Amino acid sequence: MGKHSDLLARHKEVLPSWMALYYREPIAIVDGEGRRVTDAEGNTYLDFFGGILTTMSGYRVPEVVAAIKAQADRMLHTSTLYLIESQIELAEKIAALSGIPDAKVFFTNSGTEANDAALMLATQFRKSNQILAVRGSYHGKSHSAVAITGQKSWSATSLSPFNVSYVHGGYKLRSPFGHLPDGEFIDACVADLRDMIDIATAGDVAAMIAEPIQGVGGFATPPDGFFAAMKGVLDEDGILFITDEVQTGWGRTGEHFWGYQAHDVTPDLLTFAKGLGNGLAMAGVVARADIMDCLKANSISTFGGNPLATAGALANLDYVLENDLQTNALKVGNQLMNGIHRIADEVPEILEVRGKGLMIGVEFGDPADLAPDVTLTAAVMEEAKAGGLLIGKGGLYGNTLRIAPPLSITEEEADEGLEKLKDAINRARHKEEQS
Ligand SMILES: Cc1ncc(COP(=O)(O)O)c(C=O)c1O
Repeated sequence: MGKHSDLLARHKEVLPSWMALYYREPIAIVDGEGRRVTDAEGNTYLDFFGGILTTMSGYRVPEVVAAIKAQADRMLHTSTLYLIESQIELAEKIAALSGIPDAKVFFTNSGTEANDAALMLATQFRKSNQILAVRGSYHGKSHSAVAITGQKSWSATSLSPFNVSYVHGGYKLRSPFGHLPDGEFIDACVADLRDMIDIATAGDVAAMIAEPIQGVGGFATPPDGFFAAMKGVLDEDGILFITDEVQTGWGRTGEHFWGYQAHDVTPDLLTFAKGLGNGLAMAGVVARADIMDCLKANSISTFGGNPLATAGALANLDYVLENDLQTNALKVGNQLMNGIHRIADEVPEILEVRGKGLMIGVEFGDPADLAPDVTLTAAVMEEAKAGGLLIGKGGLYGNTLRIAPPLSITEEEADEGLEKLKDAINRARHKEEQS
């Protein structure tokens, strides 16, 4: 038995069946450097998914590793009952970067927890449990995060602490308003939002939460300005706007540091996770001070923002800023986007290429009726892996490739990845034709 099949057998014995694994023959990644990883059987890959957009700066970044080692040499943990200098410094930097006036930061261990905290703050601040979420959304795995998840395949339960209404988002391809030009599409979504608030809610909605580009939803990307128009309606009733930047933050979209900035809007709350820790458990919520401080009960976070996580995250954030990885995401993202469009010109089953910066979705389906092609998408994933390229998958039907390499990717690596992707698509289509 090979190492991977042995691990898979043991994994199945003791880990949940619903914890999805990629690939017919799942792999264990045991080593990495830059944008390349090695699996437990010695195969190497160019990594265009970075552990779900989380290894943001790349593997084994010396500055980040050194900061983690130095902190580990001193101590790992104290709890939020004590002052933590690296936590304070990181909060100062994030508050200043957030674009939210008079901002405060609460650190958590995951994006789920960050969204839980944001929803707790918004519902307490507004004294309402009514939330607007977006169709096709994904915000995490707890009861409250699943309650605002707009995708059946990720909704493990309907139990909910909230009263949730779903509004239209930016996924034009399958939207009833999708045939409209961008401006009219936005108008139609805004009219629907107004209708939803007036007709389907009890009138005192707490907040709307949205991903500027939907991650698990398949990198569905609304036209620029979409959320400013939506917020115009929210502002009429004092409804808070929570931007979930778990996937779109830290410069990944290239044009902006945060996804919300494509929309000329100021959020009331912002959640982050994934990339900041470059793999450390590090997440949080940023809110205006009046919202952050509205809770009357005590709270702690035993692990949230602990010395190890904040020391590593500080070093990683400094690395991202000092090396201007946002500009790299814009440059190499455009290169990848152009290359993928060239591939798509030859592949009728590619229905849409979308996204921004280093967040590119490729949706597969039947060009005649848009029926999702889940089989071809899965086959491309397998062929890419066989050719030494790791990519992600998502979309409402699992029919969208998600291409999201570390922000430090080079132009040479982008070209190499494009070749591998093209070959994988060609091989997958060829095999499908023959079967
Ligand atoms: C947009 C978004 N929000 C929240 C989450 C939940 O984050 P975590 O898995 O760290 O709990 C995810 C995870 O994929 C996400 O993509």
